[in-house]
Amino acid sequence: MKTTTQKSSANGSNGKSQNSKSTETNSGSNHSTSSQLEKLFEDELKDIYWAEKALTKAIPKMIKNATSQELIDALQNHLGETEEQISRLEQVFELVGKKAVAKKCEAMAGLLKEGEEIMEATEEGAMRDAGIILAGQKVEHYEIATYGTLRTFASIMGMNEAADLLETTLNEEKAVDEKLTEVAEAAINLEAAETEE
Ligand SMILES: [Fe+2]
Ligand SMILES: [Fe+2]
Repeated sequence: MKTTTQKSSANGSNGKSQNSKSTETNSGSNHSTSSQLEKLFEDELKDIYWAEKALTKAIPKMIKNATSQELIDALQNHLGETEEQISRLEQVFELVGKKAVAKKCEAMAGLLKEGEEIMEATEEGAMRDAGIILAGQKVEHYEIATYGTLRTFASIMGMNEAADLLETTLNEEKAVDEKLTEVAEAAINLEAAETEE
C-alpha cells in the first residue's frame, strides 16, 4: 500500500531524486516479498505433505465402505497415485533444500472427518457410494487449489523442476476429480434404471 502511494506520487509532478528513492523502496519491498513467498511456499508444502499422508490412511477406509466396483477401482488407483505424490513432494523439499516435514493440515483433517461422518450416516450401497464421491471430490478440490498455487509460486520463484513435479500431481488430482464425476453419473443412472424395473 505504502509503496503504491509513493510510486504514484513519484509518477506525478516530482523530480528524479524522488523517483530513485521510490525505486529503492520497491527493491527493498520486493526482497521481503520473495522471502515471504518462499516461506508461504514451504509452509504450504508441509501442509499438503501432511494431507497426502493422511489420505493414504483415509482412502483405504473409503474403499472398504464403497460398493460400486468402478468407485473401488478409481479409489484404488488414486491410492497408488497418492503414494507417488508423497515421494514427488519429498523431491520438491529436496529441491528447496529443506527437510520433508509434515504440518497438520486442519482443512484436510476437517474434510476427512466430514467424510467419515457421511459414511456413518448413510446406508451401505448407492447412497454411501454417493457420499464417498462427495467427500472425495471435496478433497480433490482442496488438493487442486493447493497444487495449483504451489506450482504458480514455484514458477514465480524460477524453480522450474519443482513446478513440473507439482504440475504432474495437479493433473492427477484433476483427472481423478473428473473420474469421480463420471462414477457418480453412472451410479445415479444405474440407480434410476433399477427403480424403473
Ligand atoms: Fe493427492
Ligand atoms: Fe487426490
